[in-house]
Formats: sequence, C-alpha cells, structure tokens
Amino acid sequence: MQRFRRLRKSEGIRRLVRETKLSRSDLIYPVFVAEGKNIKKPVDSMPDVFQYSIDRLDEILTQAAKSGISGLLIFGIPAHKDELATSAYDDNGITQQAIRYIKRRCPALLVIADVCLCEYTSHGHCGVVKDGVVLNDETLPLLSEMAVSLAKVGADIIAPSDMMDGRVAAIRQALDDSGFIDTPILSYSAKFASAYYAPFRDAAQSAPAFGDRKTYQMDPSNGREALREIQSDIEEGADMVMVKPALAYLDIIREAKKLNYPLVAYNVSGEYAMVKAAAQNGWIDEKRIVLENLLSIKRAGADVIITYHALDAARWMEDA
Ligand code: PBG
Ligand code: ZN
Repeated sequence: MQRFRRLRKSEGIRRLVRETKLSRSDLIYPVFVAEGKNIKKPVDSMPDVFQYSIDRLDEILTQAAKSGISGLLIFGIPAHKDELATSAYDDNGITQQAIRYIKRRCPALLVIADVCLCEYTSHGHCGVVKDGVVLNDETLPLLSEMAVSLAKVGADIIAPSDMMDGRVAAIRQALDDSGFIDTPILSYSAKFASAYYAPFRDAAQSAPAFGDRKTYQMDPSNGREALREIQSDIEEGADMVMVKPALAYLDIIREAKKLNYPLVAYNVSGEYAMVKAAAQNGWIDEKRIVLENLLSIKRAGADVIITYHALDAARWMEDA
C-alpha cells in the first residue's frame, strides 16, 4: 500500500520533501507617498498601511531594508490633480522626489515605479478622457513621458498598470530613445476590473469620478484573453509580466507560467483587507493564513509576489 504518511512523520522529513518554498527575496512591498510634511496617515480600509510624507519615509525604509525583501513598489499621491495628469510626468513630482530619496537612502532596495495616470488625474481615470470616453492612443505619450521621468530619477523597473493597448511598445520606444535601454519593463499584463481594488483607491485617492474601469481593465470571466494580453505584452517588449489580482486568479497564474517569462502576481488591497479584518476579529490565525496565501500564489507559478503583507511575512518566514 502507498503510505503517504511516511513522508509526513516529522517536521524534518516534511521539510525535506517540501515542493514549494517562499523566500523573502520573492516579495515586493507597496508604499504610498503623500505630498506634505510630517504625514503618517492610516488607510482606514487597510489596517497597518499608511501614507507617508518623504520626511517620515525612513521608518518604513529601515524596516524594508532589514527585512530581506527585494524591493518596493511606489505610489505617489500628488497634491495637484488635473485633466492631463501633469504631476505624473513632472521631474519634481511627488513620485519622482520619493524615488530619488529612496534610491539615495537604500540603493540596494529595488524600486519599481507604477506607471498610471489615475492618481494624478482630476477624474481618476487611468487615461485621457474626452466626452466621457477614456482615450487610448492619446494616453500613450503621457505614459511614455511619465516612464522616462521615473527612469531618470532612478527607478529600477518601470511598471505600467493602466491597461491601454500598445503601452508597452510605446514606453519601450520612449525609454530607448532617452537612453534607458537597460531599464526593464514589468507590465501589468492581465489586470482585471476587480472589486478587490477598492481599499487601494482609498489609499491612493484614485477612485474614478464617473463610471468604472471596465473599458480598459479585463473582464474577470476571460482566462484565454488574459493569455493573449500577456503574449502581446511580451511581443511588445515586456521583460516581466503580471497577473492581478492574485488569489481569485490562480488559474491564470498557472497558465501564464508556461510562457516562461518572469511572472509577478499582485496580492491586492482587497485580498489584504479581508485577511486583516478576519484576523482583527480573532476568526483566523493571521500569520498562518498569510503564509498559506503567499505560498499558494507561489505554488500556482508566481516568481514574485507584490503584497502589503511583505514586511510581516518576511519576519514570519522560517527559512529563506
Ligand atoms: C493604478 C493601480 C491600481 C492598483 C495598482 N495600480 C488600482 C486600480 O486599477 O484601480 C491596485 C492595487 C491594489 O488594489 O492593491 N492603476
Ligand atoms: Zn490607473
């Protein structure tokens, strides 16, 4: 008889035959940077997540540098928003200032720059709006300008999250033309129009003022289309690709793995909020749930996980 329990007998033997292991280097921690001074503002829907002003960033940078995680994903929250998202591609914008500061303080931490206009537009959409429609091709030059500006201030990886068609090719061209031929692009290739982003929109103050994002983000029903999106970003020049959200989309992660490109999964704000809420009520064991969720994302095929749990998880991991 097959006795599977032989290999489950002790921690030593379980550890020996473990197929999937999480490590600290798999993790990326998102950070929200607000304009202003002496700010450490809690995000109500995301317990233990804060918006920081640059003069208070050291607190989180010290923790991140010590934790062994690979890097940070930076979201700037500008004081000024307008129709054309001008603060997004201002070389002295909040995101640019934050990246310069972080690269100066912690050069070894990778800085991933999210490229999207929604935090910077007055209407909160990810592209240029005309007559209530989010325009695609008119948005590409703005995204390109933003990407170049973020590369200039030291971003290690450029990560477009807007879901306009053709943005990877446009951004690649713009980076190359400006001399950033060695700056990689991590594309949010399969980003679904998900209810799981709600807490993020509180954190980044980026909720759309009208309508929703369904004309550019993907329909959660479409797994095969997700693979076409990923394939097309690879053809346009993406160096790494992403599936987002993570836990409700493990099937997509599994399939995307077969394309043999570095694969990132974004364990998003709503996934985080649900775990934190249940933990605060004493209904689940937060540490075990978090490590199990992250492990599952990795087992499905993700090489890298962006998660608000990154700093906690790094502390909780036994060997990495
Ligand atoms: C900006 C962006 C969003 C997220 C990352 N980049 C929000 C959105 O598309 O509305 C979501 C992250 C999260 O929920 O944790 N386009
Ligand atoms: Zn956006």
